[in-house]
Amino acid sequence: MIVLGLESSCDDTGAAIVIDGRLCSNEVITQMEHSRYGGVVPEVASRLHEQNILPAVRRSLELANVSLDQLSGLAVTVGPGLAGALMVGLNFAKGLAQARGIPLVCINHMEGHLWSNFLERPLQDDDCPFICLLVSGGHTQLWRVDRMGSYRLLGSSLDDAAGEAFDKGARLLELGYPGGPAIDKAAQSGDPNFVEFPRPLAGSAGCDFSFSGLKTALYYQLRRMDPATIASRRQDLAASYQQAVVDCLMDRLRKAVELTGMTRVCVAGGVAANSLLRERLDTWAAADHLVVSYPPQQFCTDNAAMIAMAGHFRLMQGERSPLSSEIKPNLRMDQLATN
Ligand SMILES: Nc1ncnc2c1ncn2[C@@H]1O[C@H](COP(=O)(O)OP(=O)(O)OP(=O)(O)O)[C@@H](O)[C@H]1O
Ligand SMILES: [Mg+2]
Repeated sequence: MIVLGLESSCDDTGAAIVIDGRLCSNEVITQMEHSRYGGVVPEVASRLHEQNILPAVRRSLELANVSLDQLSGLAVTVGPGLAGALMVGLNFAKGLAQARGIPLVCINHMEGHLWSNFLERPLQDDDCPFICLLVSGGHTQLWRVDRMGSYRLLGSSLDDAAGEAFDKGARLLELGYPGGPAIDKAAQSGDPNFVEFPRPLAGSAGCDFSFSGLKTALYYQLRRMDPATIASRRQDLAASYQQAVVDCLMDRLRKAVELTGMTRVCVAGGVAANSLLRERLDTWAAADHLVVSYPPQQFCTDNAAMIAMAGHFRLMQGERSPLSSEIKPNLRMDQLATN
């Protein structure tokens, strides 16, 4: 089975080919224009997806050495995400499915992130059940996964997502956009103990997160410092802030493991690319004899490889979506994207 996956939920236009469950190409065109505005501008994102989707599809076919008439199915992100951006991908997929007479399957973007853990190594029966930490620009959630398609929410952020905390923190620190990679880089040469930022909800019952107080603490910390000191201690501030975000993620993840007694953990989403988080996960896994996985760096942020793989799995199970399918900007991971 040859599946073309399409992703356009935010500011990355992606197209990827999966052949019989093996990833054969993955083309991502990232929209750099948004860095001028310090965040994603929905109208600009939709217009750029329109421009980029055909070149991305052509390139993914070329790289996989596949022609359009060889495709057996199409998988496309329908939510969650920006409405106008999602519409570009879905309308393109519908047109192609209609023209080629091939099945279409709608994919939940967050389930796609989860699948990014199984792009280089196929999902095995004994991988389930596990805990999944979804940690991205718009989500910070802990899920119990009993099998692919069966998800139960254990906890989520009560305010900002962790990726958002990185982006807003980087803006305050004048480190640019997207903030996560910028803070990660600046923190490499910084002192993480320079400022003791709060760890909201750490040690609390349950598995919820909170990040907005952390961002406010950074705001007030910067107000207490003069511009010259900020400039000379920017790396230290970034390292201290990053450490606080990662401490919160690790605390809540440990709590989920404690509450469920599970020994397998998958982390997914853009923040899974964070080097300190990855280091902490490795140390924890070794110390507590846990099986912890996170995607290869290039599959943490948005890509179509994860959508094509989720599509392969769902098409193999016989799932099909009608050509009347609509976008679902507020879709949750435990809601079906297919109808
Ligand atoms: N190395 C890193 N360290 C910390 N955060 C990072 C890193 N790399 C990327 N991020 C963050 O990941 C986020 C982007 O991830 P992703 O593309 O999965 O989010 P999204 O698609 O916008 O949101 P969602 O998946 O929730 O709809 C941004 O907030 C970015 O700052
Ligand atoms: Mg995403």
